[in-house]
Amino acid sequence: MSLRVALIGFGAIGQRLARGLLAHPEAVELTGVLVHELDPARAAAQGDLQGVRALLTDQRDTWLATRPELVVECAGHAAVDAHAEAVLRAGCDLLLASVGSLTDDDRLARLQSLATASGRQVQLVSGAIGGIDWLTAARDAGLRDVVYRGRKPPAAWRGSPAEAVAQLSSLDAPALVFEGSARQAARDFPRNANVAATVALATLGLDHTRVELWADPGVTENRHEVEAWGEAGHLLLRLDNRPDPQNPRTSLVTAHSALRAVLNRCAAVVL
Ligand SMILES: NC(=O)c1ccc[n+]([C@@H]2O[C@H](COP(=O)([O-])OP(=O)(O)OC[C@H]3O[C@@H](n4cnc5c(N)ncnc54)[C@H](O)[C@@H]3O)[C@@H](O)[C@H]2O)c1
Repeated sequence: MSLRVALIGFGAIGQRLARGLLAHPEAVELTGVLVHELDPARAAAQGDLQGVRALLTDQRDTWLATRPELVVECAGHAAVDAHAEAVLRAGCDLLLASVGSLTDDDRLARLQSLATASGRQVQLVSGAIGGIDWLTAARDAGLRDVVYRGRKPPAAWRGSPAEAVAQLSSLDAPALVFEGSARQAARDFPRNANVAATVALATLGLDHTRVELWADPGVTENRHEVEAWGEAGHLLLRLDNRPDPQNPRTSLVTAHSALRAVLNRCAAVVL
């Protein structure tokens, strides 16, 4: 029996994920795709995604009536607000890509209690960041300190509070544009919220996980670094993620992380 999976969102992640799911009919059945606007979604469902056209809808009831067992959200924080609770109430498990939405304590608490009450599970994708398995295990062993460092080329910080603390157009050395807690980072730099929140939720929490954001003329793409110290040892992780060509603000690996999380639910041996 294949796992019945439905998506919220059909952008860069949703399309790449749908393609991956369709390639595994023995394991999963894509039952429906909920979108905000039907016309751009229909236009995107071309070529090898043509089969998705009939599954697209902007009506939540129609979409839930396809009886998914697992819903994957890849649509943004507003979509989590709009649909996550209804999904759990309908008896589906939920896999979230927009992890930054859980920096709102009330939303996290509501989802936790709804999932408990309905016997369902909310899983967060590791998405653009790696090492979450080591970090969660090391947290249980005892973690002392965790820092997430995000580095982007100076121009990528335009339109953010970084403009007020660094001369972005003339930097010849890395400049620290933010230092604080993951909670403050998510509030002031919402575009970095997903990765910082994922590291924080996996380790010392939003108030005790440190975040540094750097405008760095030495990098050409977004660089993620995580450093952690604890009873289990020392972790130093660096990722240079390639952007998804369809949405350069999203790392290409994110859709594959969601796909792996779905396929792991159906695999006989899971790694
Ligand atoms: N965890 C991570 O590492 C990570 C990395 C990148 C992106 N993300 C999250 O994934 C989300 C999607 O990324 P993307 O690159 O696919 O974005 P995108 O802009 O390419 O696509 C977003 C899709 O969601 C749909 N959508 C928006 N609001 C909706 C709503 N209320 N209901 C239904 N559909 C709605 C849009 O119509 C579009 O199809 C991002 O907003 C971000 O929160 C997480």
